This record gives sequence, C-alpha cells and structure tokens, in this order.
Amino acid sequence: LGLRHNLYIGTAVDMAALNDPAEPTYRKIVESEFSTVTAENVMKWESLEPTRGVYNWGPADELVDFARRHDQRVRGHVLVWQNQLPKWLTDGVADGSIGKAELRDLLRRHITDVVTHFKGKIWQWDVVNEAVSDPWDTPSTLHYKGFWAEHLGPGYLADAFRWARAADPKALLFYNDYNIEAFGSGNPADDKTQFVYDMVKDLLARGVPVDGVGSQGHLGTQYGNFDTLQVAAALRKFAGLGLSTALTEVDVRSEMTDGVRAGNPNEINPRLQASAANFSILLQACLAERHCLSYTVWGFTDKHSWVPGTFPTEGLASIYDENYQPKRAYNVMRADL
Ligand code: XIL
Repeated sequence: LGLRHNLYIGTAVDMAALNDPAEPTYRKIVESEFSTVTAENVMKWESLEPTRGVYNWGPADELVDFARRHDQRVRGHVLVWQNQLPKWLTDGVADGSIGKAELRDLLRRHITDVVTHFKGKIWQWDVVNEAVSDPWDTPSTLHYKGFWAEHLGPGYLADAFRWARAADPKALLFYNDYNIEAFGSGNPADDKTQFVYDMVKDLLARGVPVDGVGSQGHLGTQYGNFDTLQVAAALRKFAGLGLSTALTEVDVRSEMTDGVRAGNPNEINPRLQASAANFSILLQACLAERHCLSYTVWGFTDKHSWVPGTFPTEGLASIYDENYQPKRAYNVMRADL
C-alpha cells in the first residue's frame, strides 16, 4: 500500500501458477506484496463461457475468494475486448449464423451476467479494452478498431458502460488501453491519448457512466523513456474530466540479444536499470496524482510473464526474475513507496 495516498499496488494473477503446488513462492508473493489483484485470463469471455450458455465461474470465483481472504481489492478484467473471445461467438459471426441484433443481445447478456455474478466484489471493472487503433495501423488516422466496432459500430461503447452500471451500480467502470500513458512527449502516442480523452469526454457529455481511464503501461526499454511529468500530464488530463485513473498492466520488456541470453551482465544490467526507471516513472506519476487509484503490474515474475510468448525476441519484463528474486525495478519501486 503506497503511503502517500493509499495507492493500491497490484498484480495480474496466473491461476495455474497460483495453484501449482510446486511453486509455493508464487502464491506467497501474491499474498504478501500486493493489495489488489487482476485475473490475467480467467475473467475473459473465452474463459467464462467456452461453450455457449454454459458458464465456467470456478477459476474466477477462486481468485475473488483468494482476494477477500487476503483483504485485497479486485480489478475485473475484462468485459468487452476483441481478443480471447469464445470460438462459438467469432465463428457464429463469421459464418453469418449470429447477426447484428443477436450479437448486441449476446453482449448485453454477457455484461449483465458477468457483472451480476461478481456484484459487490469488484472494485474497478475494465468495461471496454483497447477499442482505439494505433498510428501504425491502416488507416493510420486513429479510429475505433476491432471486432465490436466492425460488427456493432462505435455505439457499443456507450451500451457496454450502461449495461455494466445497471448490473452493479457501485463498481467503478473503466476504459482501459495502451499507448495512452503519456501526453506532451512528442511521441505519436500523444495523439492516442488525445483521441481517448475526446472519446471519454463525449461519452460523459452524453451521460454515459464512465468512472475511470486505465493506462496499461506495457513499455519497452528499446523505446526510450517517458518522463514522470509526461505521464502525470496524461493522468491529469483524464482527471480533468472528473475521472479516476489507474496504471493497470505495467511491465517493461527488453530485447533479448545473444549476449543477454548468455547471461552477460554487461548487457543485462543496463536493461535492468532502464526497466527499473520505467517502472518508477509510471509509479511516481501515479503517486503524484491523487485520482490515480492503483498501480498494477502485469505479472510479477519473468517465470510467468506473457512477454516471451507474445514478443518472441523480448523478455526480462517483470519486477522479479525467473527464480523469484526481486530485481532492481522492485527495489526502486519500494524506495518510491
Ligand atoms: C494477455 C495475457 O497476459 C496472456 O496470458 C494471454 O495469452 C493474452 O492476453 N493487454 C491486455 C491483457 O489487456 O488482457 C493481455 O493479457 C495483455 C495485453
């Protein structure tokens, strides 16, 4: 718990690792180092409803119970996203057996059922995740991207927040995205921050219940640093709309050259240092802004990081190494707190 303004410090939790009897250290660190948890995968639609109409609540319930036992708050992740959708849903849309009206109905039912199931137990919901394109997409002009915008049009955003609010009026409802961590950096990501700002402002003006914006914080040492003021500027921009903010998925990956793989400290150490600086810059910005409610890392150990599976030449993204030894980033964060 960050003392300066009760900042909650969290991690994404991999349920398989949490339940692995061969890895008691994983569970011990989740219990002792964090005040909020996020399901890395088990609250995603493909995991909750792998077969149409048949819910699989078990693993998600287990995490929520774990959090309650350890006095931790839960970030719900994620209600609406274009990835990790069940195959029956994407196949049905692709082969035309699920049309637009039915798809909208399925989304309403999904949000209502999931938010109702966890009612009273979720602190912040990521209602919509990654709805906006990036400068490197085609067209490069920022736009609403992905499955839901393509099939329902951008109106799904307002619907999703309204349905979520109706099902649990007390949960804080977040829009969550990456490349919105900074503003005023001169990086093209400035434009995405501005786009999301305009988008949320417009939703609020129409009375749509949005309570917060989550900045994921998937950074990489090869991309250089933002500075604390640029990150604070983005957070403050969202706060200017009356919103809460959060850092929701922080990790800082590095290119794994042969030297790093071979364990050459002359190559590893600068990466660990750059990584620590990035973790700290995001943390200090969040600490500087009272509306920044939580700072969550996307997994805490390189042993279970999603990075090598998704970015095959990259790694070293977490605050503990593969043997659960705290890295420089961990120590720097502790000093910040
Ligand atoms: C990732 C998980 O970490 C992986 O285990 C899974 O295979 C794919 O999804 N942005 C998000 C997260 O919002 O849900 C993603 O999590 C990482 C990127």
